[in-house]
Amino acid sequence: MRIHQEKNEHVSVLLQQVLEYLDPRDGDSYLDVTAGYGGHASAVLDRTHRPDKAVLVDRDAQAIAALHHFAEQGASLVHSDFLSASNEQHNQGKQFDIILADLGVSSPHLDIAARGFAFRRNGPLDMRMDQTQPLDAATIVNTYSEDELQWIIRTYGEEPRARAIARAIVATRPHSSTAELAEVVRSVLPNGRKIHPATKTFQALRIAVNDELELLRQALPLWIRLLAPHGRLGVISFHSLEDRIVKQVFAEFAGDRYDAELAHVMKGPITASADELAFNPRARSAKLRAVVKK
Ligand SMILES: C[S@@+](CC[C@H](N)C(=O)[O-])C[C@H]1O[C@@H](n2cnc3c(N)ncnc32)[C@H](O)[C@@H]1O
Repeated sequence: MRIHQEKNEHVSVLLQQVLEYLDPRDGDSYLDVTAGYGGHASAVLDRTHRPDKAVLVDRDAQAIAALHHFAEQGASLVHSDFLSASNEQHNQGKQFDIILADLGVSSPHLDIAARGFAFRRNGPLDMRMDQTQPLDAATIVNTYSEDELQWIIRTYGEEPRARAIARAIVATRPHSSTAELAEVVRSVLPNGRKIHPATKTFQALRIAVNDELELLRQALPLWIRLLAPHGRLGVISFHSLEDRIVKQVFAEFAGDRYDAELAHVMKGPITASADELAFNPRARSAKLRAVVKK
């Protein structure tokens, strides 16, 4: 059975590696906690042939709308953050052979100016993956104290000039657009950085708006509990803060101890090949780690 995939503008990263290391097999159940535009889901379901045993989660209503063809084939769609969705699956006593988390934003988040994620496209200061949640980037930028902004920019952006940026944001607010905010950040940073001056600040605000690291930290042990015996869990991360959390939690549960619940599927993280990078630059920072339940 060929699972139909709708045309979308998100190119899935590390697709072949996900198939190789998570090794979906005929009849397997599948939990995709960041289903996005369904690229990974489509490839996995092509192998499991059981859309009725698939649960596809995303906190973005636009992504969920793009996944409806999977529902027509029997998959369950859940519009929710992955922590609540995984808790719900756990409370129902569910277990899965394959669990995949492909973290972070999708290409439409970055490409659609109105979503407010991108400093290169002028839009409102939004950055919410789930547009029903009240907290958006404008609230953080316009109402948080200088100390709070500095903490967010330093901790989530790893930006050494966080204090100067926070001070400038507070001195020039209110702010309403991504271009305006990017210009404030640029004005206090020295020229000559390799990346756009606003990159780290925007990453920090996005992580804070969507509470990305805390949700990941809490969800990882739950995903491990949701694995069926011999089930495989893969996590694709896009920056070192995420990858560090994944590495730590996997190390806690996997290892040489006789009572370890998990085994590592590969030694170090898997990254994209030069071929993949040539057609999908978004894969540049992607790292896949995977574990198997004993
Ligand atoms: C990189 S994209 C996934 C792309 C997907 N694997 C594909 O092949 O099309 C990440 C998706 O995860 C969603 N997401 C990020 N954090 C989430 C969370 N905590 N809970 C649920 N969905 C989340 C985003 O809305 C986005 O659609």
